Amino acid sequence: MNEVIQTIKKRRSVRKYKSEQLSDHELYAILESGQYAPSGGNNQTSHLIVIQKEEILKELKDLVEQEFSKMEVYEGMYKSLVASINASKRGGYDFYYNAPTLVIAANRKGYGNAIADCSCVLENMMLAATSLNIGSCWINQLHWLDENPVIRQFLIPLGLSEEETICGGLALGYPELREQTSLKRTGNSITMVR
Ligand SMILES: Cc1cc2nc3c(=O)[nH]c(=O)nc-3n(C[C@H](O)[C@H](O)[C@H](O)COP(=O)(O)O)c2cc1C
Repeated sequence: MNEVIQTIKKRRSVRKYKSEQLSDHELYAILESGQYAPSGGNNQTSHLIVIQKEEILKELKDLVEQEFSKMEVYEGMYKSLVASINASKRGGYDFYYNAPTLVIAANRKGYGNAIADCSCVLENMMLAATSLNIGSCWINQLHWLDENPVIRQFLIPLGLSEEETICGGLALGYPELREQTSLKRTGNSITMVR
């Protein structure tokens, strides 16, 4: 099978990482793959904030737990958000799985393709990481907390602009577990007209 298609099928979300940091060579290859993503109107306004400083990651983890703990669950709330709130209320919630690298993907507020463009960037990075045997997982918690003033106040000195919205995130690191088998897709339906 073609190597790209093999990599697409091999990619899995990794939720347990070794503490060892990626090499800069690997990191920049992954980031550059993100930069090569397509964007609406060739806007190229996605912005990646890469956090590798352990103290900053730990501080962010605590703030995320603190802010989710203040939130109330309501009927019909997105189930993954409910899980994050409940885990935070219990304590010890680690939204980025203690990965040594966390990438935040942001884009211009009010830009209609903000999430679509960042999703292309994130997927490119996940595939590049897989091809290098590096684990990755989409991390959505900072997107949910995008309008939270405590989180924004923390991220702005790290490079997030006031004019940017957080579209998603990515944990990166060497996987702690053995390679996971491809997860069979039963959804994502296809309708053929021919
Ligand atoms: C938009 C989006 C948001 C996601 N958010 C999270 C998340 O916050 N935490 C997490 O552990 N996984 C997250 N995931 C990963 C999915 O849970 C995962 O892709 C799905 O269960 C399929 O498993 P696979 O990636 O191993 O094939 C997200 C994926 C997408 C596309």
